[in-house]
Amino acid sequence: MAISKTMSDALNTQFNKELNSAYLYESMAADFYAGNLPGFAVWMTTQAGEERVHAEKIHHYLTENGERVYYAAIPEPQAEWKSPLAAIQGALAHEKFITKSIHDLVRTARKEDDIATETFLGWYVTEQIEEESTAQSLIDKLEMVGDNRFGLYQLDKEVSTRQQDA
Ligand code: FEO
Repeated sequence: MAISKTMSDALNTQFNKELNSAYLYESMAADFYAGNLPGFAVWMTTQAGEERVHAEKIHHYLTENGERVYYAAIPEPQAEWKSPLAAIQGALAHEKFITKSIHDLVRTARKEDDIATETFLGWYVTEQIEEESTAQSLIDKLEMVGDNRFGLYQLDKEVSTRQQDA
C-alpha cells in the first residue's frame, strides 16, 4: 500500500527533526570539549551518531516505499550551557519533545490506516524510552556528583566509554 502524502510529509518532518537532534548534540559536544570534559563530548558525539541513524532509518523506509526525503534548513543550535547538568537536562527535554513527536506520528499513521508505517514507528516508540532513560540516568549521576570536581572528573572518564548501539 502506498504511503499517503500526509504520512510521507509527517515522516519527512521527523527525518529533519532527527538531523536537528544530531546538530544540537554535536553543539553540546563542542561545548563539552571547550569545557575540558572530553568524556562528555564523546558521549554527546555518540548520541549525535545515533540521531543520524534514526534519520537514516526514515530515509530508507521512505525510499523503500517509493517516496523520498527532503532536507530542511536546520536552525542554529544553542552553543553554550551553564553546566554539564544544564546540558544534559536540555538533552532530556529535547528527547521528551521527540517522544511526543513520535507519538503524534503514530496517531497520524492510525488516522491514515497505515499499518505498515505504524509498525515501522514501533521501533522509535521503544527507542525513545531508552533515549529518555539514558539522559535521566546521566542527570542522576551528575546530581550525585554535585560541585565535586573530582567526582566530575571520574564521571567524565566513565561516560567516555559510551558506544553507539542504534
Ligand atoms: Fe532520535 Fe534521540 O531521538
